[in-house]
Amino acid sequence: MTGTTRSAAPETPETRETWSHNTGFILAAIGSAVGLGNIWRFPGVAYESGGGAFLIPYLVALLTAGIPILFLDYAIGHRYRAAAPLAYRRMARPAEALGWFQIMLSFVISVYYAAVVAWSLSYFVYAFDLRWGEDTLGFFVGDYLQVGDPVISTSVVPAVAIPLVLVWVAVLLIIAAGVANGVQRVNIIFIPLLVVAFTGLVVRSLTLPGAMDGLNALFTPDWSALTDLNVWIAAYAQIFFSLSIAFGIMVTYASYQRRKANMTSSGLVVAFANSSFEILAGIGVFATLGFFAHQQQVEVAELEGLTGPILSFVTFPAVISEMPGGNIFGVVFFASLVLAGFTSIISILLGVAASVQEKFGLGRRASAILVSVLCGTLSISLFSTTSGLLALDTVDQFANNVGIVVSAIVMTVVVVWVLRRGEVLRRHLNAVSTFKVGRVWVALIGILVPGFLVVMLGQKLVSLVSDGYEDLPAWYLAVFGWGMLGFVVVAALVLTAIPWKGRDDLSFRAWPELEEEQR
Ligand code: ALA
Repeated sequence: MTGTTRSAAPETPETRETWSHNTGFILAAIGSAVGLGNIWRFPGVAYESGGGAFLIPYLVALLTAGIPILFLDYAIGHRYRAAAPLAYRRMARPAEALGWFQIMLSFVISVYYAAVVAWSLSYFVYAFDLRWGEDTLGFFVGDYLQVGDPVISTSVVPAVAIPLVLVWVAVLLIIAAGVANGVQRVNIIFIPLLVVAFTGLVVRSLTLPGAMDGLNALFTPDWSALTDLNVWIAAYAQIFFSLSIAFGIMVTYASYQRRKANMTSSGLVVAFANSSFEILAGIGVFATLGFFAHQQQVEVAELEGLTGPILSFVTFPAVISEMPGGNIFGVVFFASLVLAGFTSIISILLGVAASVQEKFGLGRRASAILVSVLCGTLSISLFSTTSGLLALDTVDQFANNVGIVVSAIVMTVVVVWVLRRGEVLRRHLNAVSTFKVGRVWVALIGILVPGFLVVMLGQKLVSLVSDGYEDLPAWYLAVFGWGMLGFVVVAALVLTAIPWKGRDDLSFRAWPELEEEQR
């Protein structure tokens, strides 16, 4: 098989595109994993959830759920050689709905994720002359996002819409160019660039006065946090989002791997690279915040705005303005956010485009255009308006803490208990990989992961139902939270019910020659 195929003819397992080499796959998978979640989400979550002590639930989550589900995504994608809906359908027809549920989550995530990449692009430009001025909060919500009174507004802000259009055009071109010629090429350039740029940033941050106070604030453990179920929930949710698992992305990426692909060893490289980058980001961000606290003569704990978009787009610009040579630091920081975010958004959208391509028998370019135009239009209408920030935060909260967790529970229960494919997938991984997976893997994905996730989801649902979210009115949560989840479920069922126009290949045999090797 070659790395390219003609885009017009529908793909078949025999003509399916592949990554040109294993390094291309690993870099693309690292590109997908390392994203905004690493730079913007991890440092804040770690700080709020017990500091140094958070590393314990984080590592437990990585080893007990992160890596096992990453292997599961890889095994499904590689064995059934299709994006999530068709891969699950090849296991059992009705399971296609689970694939669409995951893909619809990706669809929703891509729509707001692109907006944050667009903000990063704007701030990359603003960093050259520190355009945000003294009042960085006022600049972000007022001058830039123009957050206004109506909670739902259709008034588009050009300063957000223009970079957002650029992001979607770039995503479209790369996905249309294909896996080897588009996605792989971008990652081969962007990921080394990101590592060099971000490492330079971290080294610089460590030389700033006060840096050690920042690291102490992040790493001084609050052991009592370990008895708080919410801290464990935060660790598992962080790992899922960060590793891009359980929402169809890694299934799709693995489906483009060649037959002898050493899946588990690649998975270990991806998982440890992602976590190393995450911890590096924590060090860089908190060393910089230590400097900020030092300048203001306060404790790091007294600083505000250490989480979410506010950390990157309000607190960081304020620090950058106070730093000698701050504009260079700012340019490199926002360039890193763009590189990391862009390599993730293309993976999120590739899953959606490949699923549509397979279901409707479209060519690669046609599905790339269809999906990018649809997601791009939604993204611009919802998130470049004056009410975009609130909607983004709400959708993000529900999609991650509820949607992805539900997806992981259903996926593990269906694969291991309903379809009884745990052992087959384990043997599949072992037939192609040098790092062998023991039976404990099936026990982890079949018992421990769903068991713990059910407890975690229950706690989250109780808190969302009884306390709501961020004092938002019930009707607002009904639309952007529960309504969004309802839309994902209904869309998944409708898409499953639509008859297949592409080749659904129910006579498909998963790498027949491997079946011999597995005996
Ligand atoms: N894995 C991607 C991130 O961490 C989605 O941002």
